[in-house]
Amino acid sequence: MTDPVDRFAARPLVAHYDAPRAVGGPGLTARLREAFRAAGRDPDRLTLDEIAGIDQLHLGGRRASRSLVALGELAPGARVLDVGCGTGGASRLLAAEVGCDVTGLDLTPAFVEAAAWLSQATGLEARTRFLCADAARVPLPDAGVETIWCQHALMNMPDAAAVLAEWHRLLVPGGRVLLHEVVAGDNAEPLTLPVPWARDAATSHLRSREALERLLAEAGFVPVVVQDVTAAALAWRQTRTERESGGAAPAPGGPLPGPERIFGDDFPLMGRNLRDNLAAGKVRILEGVWRRGNR
Ligand SMILES: C[S@@+](CC[C@H](N)C(=O)[O-])C[C@H]1O[C@@H](n2cnc3c(N)ncnc32)[C@H](O)[C@@H]1O
Repeated sequence: MTDPVDRFAARPLVAHYDAPRAVGGPGLTARLREAFRAAGRDPDRLTLDEIAGIDQLHLGGRRASRSLVALGELAPGARVLDVGCGTGGASRLLAAEVGCDVTGLDLTPAFVEAAAWLSQATGLEARTRFLCADAARVPLPDAGVETIWCQHALMNMPDAAAVLAEWHRLLVPGGRVLLHEVVAGDNAEPLTLPVPWARDAATSHLRSREALERLLAEAGFVPVVVQDVTAAALAWRQTRTERESGGAAPAPGGPLPGPERIFGDDFPLMGRNLRDNLAAGKVRILEGVWRRGNR
C-alpha cells in the first residue's frame, strides 16, 4: 500500500501542531506525561475529566461535542470515523458516553501517538483506535463506517473536495456526516494570526458556509440540519481568554496540563486572536448533519 501520508506536503501542518518539537524540544507525549506527573497524577491512569484540557482542541470543549451528538442522534455501537481527531478527545467521548466504536484519523504523528496513550490511560483502548493518515487518502475499505465525525479540521485541509469524496466512499449507504467546523465570515479582512489552527496562511484554508455547503452537495451529501453556533463559541472563547489571562487557581497537586502544553507559550495569544476574529465576523462556527445520498 502507498504511504497514506505525503510527508513533504504535511510538513507545514505538522510543524504547526508539533511546534515545540520542531524547535528541538521533547516529544508531545513525553511533555504531557511529565506535566501529569508534575500535577501529582499517574500518566498511565487518568480520567476523562483530568485530560479535558488537552484533548478538546475545538471551541466549546466537551459541551460542543455533546451538542453534536444530540444533533446527530448517534446510537450505541455505531462505527464512527473521527477525521482530524487531534489527541482523540471526541473519539473517547463517543466511546465512553455513547458506546460508539471509533477510529480516529490524523495527519500529525504526535497527536496519533498521544491519542493512543490517552485512550490506554483512560481504559478506552478497546473502543478507540488511531491511524496516522491524510483525510484525502484514507487507508480503509469502502462503506465501512456509519458516521463521519469531524470537528474543526476541514479548515486545515486545502483540498476539501478530495476529503469529502473519501467520506462518500467510506460511508455505508444512508450514513451520516456530523460536522462542527470553522468557516470564513462576511468580514473579508485578513485573519489576525496566529490562531489555534494556523500561525500563518499556509495551514489555514477557510471557506465560506456557502462554499462548504456547495462542496458537500457536489460530493453527494444531503443536509439534515445545519446551524450557526458562532454566538455560543464566542462566549465560550471569551470566558477561556479571561481564565487564561487571569491565571486560574491550580488543581490540587499542581495545574493540570492545558492547550499551552501542546501549542506552546503562544496559545493564549492564539485564543485571544480567535476571540477577536469571531467578534469581528472574520470567522463563523457551524454544526450540522448531512446524509450520504447518491452522486
Ligand atoms: C484544530 S485540530 C482539531 C482536533 C480535534 N478534531 C478536536 O476537535 O479536538 C485540527 C486537526 O486536524 C488535523 N488535520 C489537518 N489536516 C489533516 C488532514 N489532511 N488529514 C488528517 N488530519 C488532518 C490536524 O493534525 C489536527 O489534529
